[in-house]
Amino acid sequence: MEAHQIPLLKPHKMGSFNLSHRIVLAPLTRSRSFGNIPQPHAILFYSQRTTRGGLLISEATGVSDTAQGYPRTPGIWTEEQVEAWKPIVKAVHDKGGVFICQLWHVGRVSSHVYQPNGQAPISSTDKPIRPQIHHDGTVEEYSTPRRLRTDEIPLIVNDFRVAARNAIEAGFDGVEIHAAHGYLLEQFLKDGANDRTDEYGGSLENRCRFILEIVEKVVDEIGAGRVGIRLSPFSDLMECGDSNPDALGVHMVQSLNKYNLLYCHITEPRMTFNEGKLELPHRLHEMRRVFQGTFITASGYGREEGNKVVEEGYTDLVAYGRLFLANPDLPRRFELNAPLNKYDRATFYTPDPIVGYTDYPFLQPSLDSN
Ligand SMILES: Cc1cc2nc3c(=O)[nH]c(=O)nc-3n(C[C@H](O)[C@H](O)[C@H](O)COP(=O)(O)O)c2cc1C
Repeated sequence: MEAHQIPLLKPHKMGSFNLSHRIVLAPLTRSRSFGNIPQPHAILFYSQRTTRGGLLISEATGVSDTAQGYPRTPGIWTEEQVEAWKPIVKAVHDKGGVFICQLWHVGRVSSHVYQPNGQAPISSTDKPIRPQIHHDGTVEEYSTPRRLRTDEIPLIVNDFRVAARNAIEAGFDGVEIHAAHGYLLEQFLKDGANDRTDEYGGSLENRCRFILEIVEKVVDEIGAGRVGIRLSPFSDLMECGDSNPDALGVHMVQSLNKYNLLYCHITEPRMTFNEGKLELPHRLHEMRRVFQGTFITASGYGREEGNKVVEEGYTDLVAYGRLFLANPDLPRRFELNAPLNKYDRATFYTPDPIVGYTDYPFLQPSLDSN
């Protein structure tokens, strides 16, 4: 095992943050925040994955009491939640990490059981999504959503603004606006879900309006140097696809340029088979070319592909989800080209505060002798 300066371990200046390497902890919902309150066991999970000068993005964190659609996900709209985040953020800072809070609203990816007073989830539309079948065969049912009235939209924008302020109050270095993966913001963005006839539907400009209003208000509240965004123009998760994702992606990053955001974090399309081999599609060239800020890519990357895309300038940083979940010392393992622990899908979302959460082993001292 050789320890030399691979591209992923080169430093990068992101706004006012001096990152010591390019390996980012991707946002990972772990469903261990009982009562929507972050728990003390998250201190260990995040601090295990912290390196001096490394960037971590938190699990998706609800902006309001209508934002949830999964069991035991954390929020950041109450004082109790803000207080509960503080020791977690402090632990990351004590080890020299940079910690960003991902702000989330699921929209119609919810059911009335997660909603205040059992009400219908809110969305851009009143079209429900079909039940989804999980890997373990269980079926998730979603309630028919209620289409937001035009005059209600500023209230949701305001929820994001207040949540961003709360994140800074909790000590986070910034926020990532979750505008990906079929949740509320994408339900406005993509023509596969948005069937509105007001100024938030129809043209590309209109479909981008809601997200840009959120960006603007959040930037006004905490400063552009603390605001990133996550987009997934090519995904069709939760029945949220777009008929022209290339145009959508480029238009969106072009519109974001005027805000001087901290970063743009884009999920790649799903991997494809080419002559029997799984390949990353690398579809983000044009968005990368257009966006004037730090660029993060994610989805399906390993050590070799990550080094390659950083080396080629296709991206500045690479976010790792499943590999970082299962390898708390992922940057060190990449440095040494050491073997990786395998992730256990069965414990991704289970409530156990240790098993499958903080019990993935670090490198054995015999392997980590450098
Ligand atoms: C257990 C799990 C939880 C996830 N939770 C979130 C989340 O809260 N927010 C988000 O934007 N993406 C989430 N994702 C997607 C990851 O951030 C990442 O994009 C995905 O795992 C693909 O990257 P990978 O191939 O490195 O795992 C999650 C993925 C997994 C496996």
